[in-house]
Amino acid sequence: MSTLIEKLGIRYATKKMTGEKISSEDLNSILEAIRLTPTSLGLQPLKLLVLESEEVKASIKAACYGQSQITDGSQILVFTVYTEGYEALTDKYIQNIADTRSVPVESLNDFKQMILGYLQKMTIEETIAWAKKQAYIALGFGLVAAAEVGVDSTPMEGFNPAAVDEILGLKAKGLASTVILALGKKDAANDYLAHAKKVRRASSDFYEFL
Ligand SMILES: Cc1cc2nc3c(=O)[nH]c(=O)nc-3n(C[C@H](O)[C@H](O)[C@H](O)COP(=O)(O)O)c2cc1C
Repeated sequence: MSTLIEKLGIRYATKKMTGEKISSEDLNSILEAIRLTPTSLGLQPLKLLVLESEEVKASIKAACYGQSQITDGSQILVFTVYTEGYEALTDKYIQNIADTRSVPVESLNDFKQMILGYLQKMTIEETIAWAKKQAYIALGFGLVAAAEVGVDSTPMEGFNPAAVDEILGLKAKGLASTVILALGKKDAANDYLAHAKKVRRASSDFYEFL
């Protein structure tokens, strides 16, 4: 059994996938890890789109600059953030805490006002930029979870977010695409990176202990 660090040394940004489907058990583990991602204030200003339909995947391929993993991947995860509705999101969050922890909703009023105060200090553009940082944390959880279960993956910023939003009708849903994670099985024979050594800065350069 490999350790997590060994698995992180093996995973790589897969350039060529086979088109095979990953198991629903592995997919669910990755989705659950992403759902469990911590976010600032716990607000989870994210929505994860799981593209499974071949037609839907193909529809965004050109907007992803033709990257083959979009159609050869088993599922394409599009990390989106809310572009509006933050007060309603806060209300829903507070209600969720009350229900989950069996506490009166009124007891959470100070926390709720703190969240609303925090959000009110930002413009909507700043709020969206803040939400996008949370999306990247979720991407990280997804990458690690995929490595843990042995699913190949590719994190992707190489796409036109405005075009992807348009194709998937995200504006009408109050969402904006942020980053993508393709999941699938590597085509080791045709992926030039499948056997390449991992390139990282030396720990002596990367860490500074103070
Ligand atoms: C946020 C982010 C965006 C990336 N975008 C792309 C992309 O659009 N297409 C691609 O093939 N690789 C993409 N990569 C992969 C990186 O090039 C790769 O992770 C990096 O070179 C380190 O290599 P490794 O992941 O294979 O260890 C991206 C990686 C990250 C973290």
